[in-house]
Amino acid sequence: MSVERFARKELLSLGGGSATRVMIGKIPGLINLGAGDPDFDQPKFIADAVYKAMMEGHTHYAFGGDLEFKKAIAEYYAKYGITVDPETQVTITSGGSQAIFQAFAAVLNPGDEIIILDPAYQGYNQPAAYFGAKIVRAKMKKDKSGLFRPEINNIKAAVTKNTKALMICNPDNPAGIVYTKKELEEISALAVEKDFVVFDDMIYTEFIWRGRKYAPIFDMPGMQERTMVLSSFSKTFAWTGCRAGFIIAGPQLSELLNRVPIGICSVPVAFQKAGIEALKNGWGFVEEMRKAYEERIEYCVKRMNEISGVKCPMPEGAFYLFPDISGLGIPSAKFCEGIFKEEKLRIVPGTNYGPNGEGHVRLALVVPLKTCEEVMDRFERYVKKLKP
Ligand SMILES: Cc1ncc(COP(=O)(O)O)c(C=O)c1O
Repeated sequence: MSVERFARKELLSLGGGSATRVMIGKIPGLINLGAGDPDFDQPKFIADAVYKAMMEGHTHYAFGGDLEFKKAIAEYYAKYGITVDPETQVTITSGGSQAIFQAFAAVLNPGDEIIILDPAYQGYNQPAAYFGAKIVRAKMKKDKSGLFRPEINNIKAAVTKNTKALMICNPDNPAGIVYTKKELEEISALAVEKDFVVFDDMIYTEFIWRGRKYAPIFDMPGMQERTMVLSSFSKTFAWTGCRAGFIIAGPQLSELLNRVPIGICSVPVAFQKAGIEALKNGWGFVEEMRKAYEERIEYCVKRMNEISGVKCPMPEGAFYLFPDISGLGIPSAKFCEGIFKEEKLRIVPGTNYGPNGEGHVRLALVVPLKTCEEVMDRFERYVKKLKP
């Protein structure tokens, strides 16, 4: 018996997917560079903070979120020179995924258009579709080094009278770029002129390489009233299973966000308390992760570029590689299927991030350096097998 007749219609066109993730965990010898789940365990003092908070009785409703946690988030964001009011401008979410869902829920109506770059993190697609919004893709364009960057003319061409919002990811997953000030100025000028909202997914801001800096679009002229900054502790503190994140927006957009009926907050109060501890004392741990990621990136990029037919630019931020394998003459999905079967290496086809990602594959560098050596051996061996 089918239950389709009961379904919200948007759900019928959305797939599932979690079952395969569970199966993958059980394959012996598999190296899984599919999901961006950091391989670091959170420091004990943060785990202790959860227990301590429970024992202190922080087990009750915290309507609107714990104010101390919101203050700690506002203080954290102040490092970009921006003062936000914790009470009226910070919304606590259960990780980045809820931030995306809640932000979309606040502004997207059926038929509205949201511009998503191509390639882009695939976690934007389903929430947009769920709210009945139409996704309009704006192709990114490769720079001299081979990194995909936003192309303002493509974004302009994607704008119509129905455009409600644009999503940017800075630093970008999977492209690995950090937006330049000029790119952000062009985007913000367009957003003001055409009157749309910008979602700034800044989940990877603690992982920016070679001295570059994250520039907040929130601070550009006319943007505070039309920007939602989305973030998460998932990558910053390797907290993917603890589910904490936030949205920063102007007071009016924040008010809309808080009307979304998503439960009182959706992050257990004890974890909110531990989040305060992480923001206070977790930075040594973040630095350790940064160093490890940088070593992995340097090592793997070098090895990738030694493989004939593969070109791999150095990412400016985040911990993914997005090499160009088009020189191998095989579609990226087939390549990933083959390397999974023959070398037990799980990586993701570029097309998962949009059609423009064809000819690329994504590797999440979430294994220690020693395992990265094995990854690159497997990658190289598989490429050699492909060559006649
Ligand atoms: C760009 C981007 N945004 C949001 C998320 C979702 O974050 P979370 O795991 O906190 O839900 C991810 C996760 O990989 C991501 O890469």
